[in-house]
Amino acid sequence: MSYNIAIDGPAGAGKSTIAKLVAKKCGYIYVDTGAMYRAMALYLLRTGVDISDRAAIAKACQNADISIAYQKGEQVVLLNGENVNAYLRTEEVGNMASVSSAVPEVRKKLVELQQELAAKEDVVMDGRDIGTVVLPNADVKVYLTASTHTRAMRRFLELQEKGQVADLEKIEADIADRDYRDMHRETSPLRQAEDAVLVDSSEMTIEQVVERILSLCR
Ligand code: DC
Repeated sequence: MSYNIAIDGPAGAGKSTIAKLVAKKCGYIYVDTGAMYRAMALYLLRTGVDISDRAAIAKACQNADISIAYQKGEQVVLLNGENVNAYLRTEEVGNMASVSSAVPEVRKKLVELQQELAAKEDVVMDGRDIGTVVLPNADVKVYLTASTHTRAMRRFLELQEKGQVADLEKIEADIADRDYRDMHRETSPLRQAEDAVLVDSSEMTIEQVVERILSLCR
């Protein structure tokens, strides 16, 4: 049996940073499920499907073959065979992912892929519905969050570091919007699984959060 660690939480809580470090310490594979939803969103943007037409999204998503591979320990998302990692981190793709991930057909396709992976390999998987839907029997479940302001501030500093002009208020409003969409959609809304441990990272360092999760695994 493979060992599964599920980490869920809102955008910007630091899930991927933490999950990667935990995976490295444990020698497990890190699975970034958000990147799969982003790859699907990229596909939909490229096909030019109307963002408000859920039936068209449900139909179009059937033609996207998404898989993941690992190169030098990094997850690579393949969209119909093409490595699309470089295109996934834009606001446009993020916003489309937030909309298209609410479509049940999109979720069904990607959840199956995630479950297959976790059955084969020891994984640290992060997302929004890992502890509740994808891996309800995960060995360890964490709900990682931080205040909206803290998350916005982290994103702001990240952009500043890259030399980009950023508007803190706008970032905070975008985060609040995305949280609302992720938490209020009909299919698999973001919520803490009953048996998940709540970790609020607002006042914690990355090392402290990693240590807390490792202590749950011991
Ligand atoms: O974590 P992220 O920002 O890369 O996720 C992109 C979008 O995909 C986000 O709006 C929520 C959605 N998502 C989801 O619905 N379920 C997951 N397991 C992971 C991400």
